[in-house]
Amino acid sequence: MKKQFRSILNEKGRKELPNILLAAAECAPLSKTGGLADVVGTLPKALKKLGFDARVITPYHRCIKDKYADRVEHMFDFYVNLGWRTQYCGIERLMLDDVCIYLVDSEFYFGDKIYRGGQAEGEQYAFFTRAVLDAIPNLGFMPDIVHCNDWHTAMLPMLAKTQYGGAIQGSLRWLLTIHNIAYQGKFGFDYVQDLLGIEDKYYTPEFMELNGCASFLKAGCVFADRINTVSPTYAQEIKTAYFGEGLEGILSARSSELSGIINGIDTRVFNPYTDPALPARYHKGRLSGKRLCKLELQRNFGLEQRAEAPIFAMVTRMTEQKGFDLVERMLDELMQYNDMQFFMLGSGDKDYEDFMRNSETRYKGRLCAFIGYNEELSHRVYAGADFLLMPSRFEPCGLSQMIAMRYGTLPVVRETGGLKDSVKPYNRYTGEGTGFSFADFNAHEMKDAVLLALECYHKPEIMQSLIRQAMEADFSFDRSSEEYAKLYLWML
Ligand code: ADP
Ligand code: GLC
Repeated sequence: MKKQFRSILNEKGRKELPNILLAAAECAPLSKTGGLADVVGTLPKALKKLGFDARVITPYHRCIKDKYADRVEHMFDFYVNLGWRTQYCGIERLMLDDVCIYLVDSEFYFGDKIYRGGQAEGEQYAFFTRAVLDAIPNLGFMPDIVHCNDWHTAMLPMLAKTQYGGAIQGSLRWLLTIHNIAYQGKFGFDYVQDLLGIEDKYYTPEFMELNGCASFLKAGCVFADRINTVSPTYAQEIKTAYFGEGLEGILSARSSELSGIINGIDTRVFNPYTDPALPARYHKGRLSGKRLCKLELQRNFGLEQRAEAPIFAMVTRMTEQKGFDLVERMLDELMQYNDMQFFMLGSGDKDYEDFMRNSETRYKGRLCAFIGYNEELSHRVYAGADFLLMPSRFEPCGLSQMIAMRYGTLPVVRETGGLKDSVKPYNRYTGEGTGFSFADFNAHEMKDAVLLALECYHKPEIMQSLIRQAMEADFSFDRSSEEYAKLYLWML
């Protein structure tokens, strides 16, 4: 055990590291729609290296059943009461990379999409919340701290503290990590009350009421013992009205219990030297493989086969958060730079998808819009592109820019949240930098950053050293897991 952990434990009068149970709606590689899954999949592995017993509890989604059913072991089952419904719930166990994952089985709630949308999604995750609480005493693993993630699991501390007094669940410690404050799980109070049996007195602005709704995330911010988010900058930003989505008051009030820990990535999965998804492998000392990846990407997706043409890529959910309004505004101006190519991999809001499909027809041979979710292709895009555009309106952390840097693809980002904390902008006087950035959410500022990137692209020595610096940056989860370890210890 690390010396620093031992001394914190001594101070707390404890000998053992605490047991951690991570609760989340998704967990890579089992289920994934975004970065939350990557974090929940990677953190327990990194904590294990530090000596923690960290396990995960997550829904047994259809996509997991389809792939892992024969590796899953049934542990026990029981019935969950949810309003007038009584639903079967199975607890299955899966060992993955030496990490124990408990899967909450309900064909009724998790037999289809990870997120059903609308009210149905509220019921899905109300069920998950109740199932987790009722399952805890029978897991054969007693957590000291339950680490909740985002709104889907944010009601856990409130229910534990208000409905499980005297029971083991009522004595646990609760950490809430906010991965994205824009998604809060807001529903009518009557609906939530019916599902989870919440007393009327909690439907007030001090507890879970927000703009006439019951907010799952707000309940978490009120009742969790500690709150953290996924970058130091975002931890500051969410205390302001612009970013706080109505929770800035409670977060400012609990400022001393709110911190920011930047995420990392799984550097074994994202490694251009070993990545099986790539047509050619490379490392920072020998980049010829990256050139081959680029040519393959161009060949496979109908882009002109020109190694010298810079490719700007986006790999993302297509939502307002990701800055698509700026891209829509500027794309035509940028495509006037003749040799520029653009690769879009993503899915999301229909208007943005249509805009990208339409742009593909207008810029045949120079722009590819692959609308969909494709893990393997994402690796090939990170490797084959020269730049990754990420002009986010807000970005709690962002993993795409870290993956891009690991693959020697320079990010062009807006300075917000984790983008600000992870991308070092190019400094033309010192040559330092791992990418390019702009400050305001403004299309012309984004264009200037892209133009600076293009200027560097045509200066091979500058480009080479920026690529090397980006590939040398450390985004492994080990840094983050040590921060989490300290946070857990302070919570005891
Ligand atoms: P967010 O969690 O807000 O979506 P992040 O940058 O934290 O953003 O994480 C996004 C993750 O999802 C990255 O691992 C990225 O590569 C992946 N991803 C996003 N869109 C796609 C897609 N269409 N196909 C494959 N992977 C995707
Ligand atoms: C959210 C955020 C993203 C972050 C991810 C993992 O989806 O939008 O910025 O990287 O969670 O924490």
